[in-house]
Amino acid sequence: MCGIVGYVGKDNAKSVLVESLKRLEYRGYDSAGVALLTDEGIRTFKKVGKIRDFQVELNKINLYSNIGIAHTRWATHGKPVINNAHPHLSCDGKVALVHNGIIENYSSLKEELLSKGHNFVSDTDTEVIVHLIEEELKSENSFFSAFLKALSRLKGSFAISVITVLEPDKVFCARKDSPLVVGLGDGENFVASDVPAFLPYTNRVVFLEDGEVAVLSKDEVSFYDFSGVPLSKEVMTVPWSISQAEKGGYKHFMLKEIYEQPKAVADAIRGNSGWFEEGAPLDFNFEQLEGIHIVACGTSYHAGLIAKFYIESFSRVPVNVDYASEFRYRDPVISDKTLIVGITQSGETADTLAALRLGKERGATTLAICNVIGSTATREADGTIYTYAGPEISVASTKAFTTQLTSLFLFALWLGKVRGALKQEEFESLYGELLELPSKLESFLNTERKEGTVKELALNFYKAKDVLYLGRHVNYPIALEGALKLKEISYIHAEGYPSGEMKHGPIALIDERMPVIFLATKGRVYEKVVSNMEEVKARKGKVISVLNPSCKEANNLTDYPIYVPEVNEFLSPILNVVPLQLFAYYIADFLGYEVDQPRNLAKSVTVE
Ligand code: AGP
Repeated sequence: MCGIVGYVGKDNAKSVLVESLKRLEYRGYDSAGVALLTDEGIRTFKKVGKIRDFQVELNKINLYSNIGIAHTRWATHGKPVINNAHPHLSCDGKVALVHNGIIENYSSLKEELLSKGHNFVSDTDTEVIVHLIEEELKSENSFFSAFLKALSRLKGSFAISVITVLEPDKVFCARKDSPLVVGLGDGENFVASDVPAFLPYTNRVVFLEDGEVAVLSKDEVSFYDFSGVPLSKEVMTVPWSISQAEKGGYKHFMLKEIYEQPKAVADAIRGNSGWFEEGAPLDFNFEQLEGIHIVACGTSYHAGLIAKFYIESFSRVPVNVDYASEFRYRDPVISDKTLIVGITQSGETADTLAALRLGKERGATTLAICNVIGSTATREADGTIYTYAGPEISVASTKAFTTQLTSLFLFALWLGKVRGALKQEEFESLYGELLELPSKLESFLNTERKEGTVKELALNFYKAKDVLYLGRHVNYPIALEGALKLKEISYIHAEGYPSGEMKHGPIALIDERMPVIFLATKGRVYEKVVSNMEEVKARKGKVISVLNPSCKEANNLTDYPIYVPEVNEFLSPILNVVPLQLFAYYIADFLGYEVDQPRNLAKSVTVE
C-alpha cells in the first residue's frame, strides 16, 4: 500500500521526509520518491528498491528546502520502475504530486489530456491528476481553485499531496476513500497516510474525512470541503507508540487487516470493473474456452473452490479446482482451449508457480489472480488480475482472501457476459449487489466493534480441543477456511465439512463438548443446513451459527448466534468468513499466541 508524506516547516525537508517514509515501510513498497521545492523550482528524486539505499543517495546531494512531499509506491497500475514512481510532475514542472488510491476514470482523462498536448512519462493512473491540475490552471485564477476543479473530475479513490512553485509555502492535500492525516507541529506541519510517519515530531493530529481538503503552511493548516467551503476540524492527541501506530492502534496486523476489508473489497471492485468497458483481462479467445483449471494452495485454494461456483453458474464454463501441489502429479487434461488460473496472494508460492508452468508447457493460457505486482506469477503468466488488497503482513490471510473472491466474482460476471450465458438484468442485479458489499462488511464490523459478540464467543470457547465447521454450496469452502484460520493461529484442531456429509462419518464426533459452527445464512441450501443443525442439536453439540437476523429456523436451533447482514448467496462467503476470521483471531489472542507470526508458517511458501 502506498505511503504519502508531506512537510512544511523549519527543518531540512529532505531528511524529515525520508525518515518519515522509513516509518511507513511496514505498509510495503517497491519504490520511493521525494519532491522538494527549491529556489530553482521543484527537484524530484526517485529510486526502485529499499529506502535505506535511497537515503544514502540523497545524503550525497547537497540541497536544502523546507517544503516537500514524498511517497513509497506499491505498484497497482504500471510496473515498479523509476518512471512510475511518484512524485509525478506537470509538463512545465511547476506542480508535483503524490497519490495513494486508484483513479477509475484515468483512461478517459488521459485520452483527453493527451489530445490537449500533455506529455505522459509513466503508466500510472496517478499522472493524470497532475496534468489535470495543470490543465485547470489555464482557466482558473488560483492554484487552489484549479486543484478543486481537478478533484471534481476524479472518479475512484485518492489521497493526494501536492506542492507547486505557484504557492511555494504550501502543501495541498485531499482525501476520498484513502486515508490521510495531518500532524500539527510547532512552526511545522505534516501530512501522511498514517500517523507513525510523523509521530516523533507530533502526536496532535487531524484525520481528514472523505471529501475534505487541507492546505498546510508552516504556521497553520486550513481545512475545506471539495467546494472550497472552510471547515473546522477536531484536533486529536494520539497516545500511541510507533509500533502501535503502525498497526493503526490495533493490537495485531491480522486484526487491522480484518478491519480493512470493506476498503480492500471496494478497491478490488474499483480496480477490476474496467473490463466491462475496456475488454478482456487477458489476450485469449474466450469464446472458444473449453474449460478452466484453477490451481492454488491454502486460503487461495478455498477462494478457487468458491470461484468454481461463480464461473460455472454465471458462464457455464466447466471448472476443475486442484491443490497446486497435486495438479502436476495427476496428468490433467489440458489443451490450447484451456485456461489455467493460478490464485496466489504472494505470487511466489512454489507449488502454484509449478502448476502454472505445467499448464503453459502443455499449451494452455495462464492467468494469475495475484496481490503483489511484479511477483513471479505475474511475470510468468500470460495475464494477471490484481486483487488490490494492499500488502498483507499477517501470515494468516484475511483481506487477500476476500479480495480474491471479489475479483473472481467480477471475472465470472465478465465471462458470463462475453459468453452470453448471463442476461443483462442478471448481470446488473449481481453487480449492483456486489457494489453494496463493502458497506455491509462495514456495518458488520462496526457492530462487532461496539458489541464484541465474536470476541465474547471466543472467550467461551478458547479452551476447546476441536471445532467443527459446517456449510454447504458456496459456504462449504468457508467452513474449510474458518477451520484453516483456527488451526493456523490457535493450534486448535478444526475441520471443515459440507454439512450434508456429516452423517457419513463426522457425526460420530458430536457430543456436548463439541462446538459446531454452522454457516446458515439465506440461500438455496438454507433449509438443508437447518436440517443438519437439527442433527447436531439432537446429539447435544453446541451450535454456533453465522446467520442473518431473518433466519428464524436456524436461530431456534442456535446456542450462540452471530448475525451478519443479508446478501446475495453468491456474495455471502465474502461476508460470512469475516466472523470466522475474528473468532480465530480472538481465540489465538486469548491463548497468548503470536497471532501475526504463527509457529512453523511463512507468509509465502517458496519451496515445494
Ligand atoms: C493463509 O492463511 C495461509 N497463510 C496459506 O494457506 C496461504 O494462503 C497459502 O500458502 C497460499 O499462499 P499464496 O496465496 O501466497 O499463494
